[in-house]
Amino acid sequence: MPLIIANWKMNPATLTEAKDLFLQIKKVSIKNRKSTVVVCPPFLFIESLRKFTAPKISLGAQDVFWELEGAYTGEISPLQLYESGARYVIVGHYERRTRITLNETDEVINKKLKASLKAGLKPILCVGESKRDEAGNFLHFIKRQLELDLAGVKKTDLKNLIIAYEPIWTVGRDAKRKALPEECREIVVFIKKVLADMFGRNAMEKVQIIYGGSVDSKNARDYLTTGSAQGLLVGRESLRPKEFNEILKSI
Ligand code: PGA
Repeated sequence: MPLIIANWKMNPATLTEAKDLFLQIKKVSIKNRKSTVVVCPPFLFIESLRKFTAPKISLGAQDVFWELEGAYTGEISPLQLYESGARYVIVGHYERRTRITLNETDEVINKKLKASLKAGLKPILCVGESKRDEAGNFLHFIKRQLELDLAGVKKTDLKNLIIAYEPIWTVGRDAKRKALPEECREIVVFIKKVLADMFGRNAMEKVQIIYGGSVDSKNARDYLTTGSAQGLLVGRESLRPKEFNEILKSI
């Protein structure tokens, strides 16, 4: 069943707006038997939105720290996230890797991912290249991200792992263009191959691979069909309930 992740980023400004947005999305989500929705709001809103969750719509966070508790001023642990109602967590989004110069390294992402699994959260690991080149160097880049970010992850944890392929050139307002569904499929197959080499074929099949980057109601279905993605990570359009609900209906 496709997993549709709503990444609200640092929006909306108030809890009232967050509740309103969540409830509008929920109406369509619970009617839609064909997909499962995960809303990832800013940390502050998770606990308050928890009472509105239902089997078809749950909550995730957009980041996490790698220690479970201790003297880490300003950080939020995976245990605290789980306790507040989050069941998923986005790890390694490109805005944290590079865009807002947080410079999150693969080593840090790997620690966050393993700590999340340990606490019972399902990590959504984002990988993707900043540009494509004829020689195919971008494939090495994605492979390297996967190898470093998933180092030391146990095979038995792979059923709880989601990988989001997000080519950076398609994400957000600065997107150069949208990815073609065929380009998505090519990388889904490539990611599966890298995972099979790392963990074996059976274990690889447990991982859900989704697509993100300028997803809208016109292209959502194509990424899932032609693109072979098993879900979608939606940014901008997840803040527009009508458009997000059109995405859900189109599936
Ligand atoms: P976008 O963002 O849908 O606005 O391109 C996707 C993301 O950043 O996860």
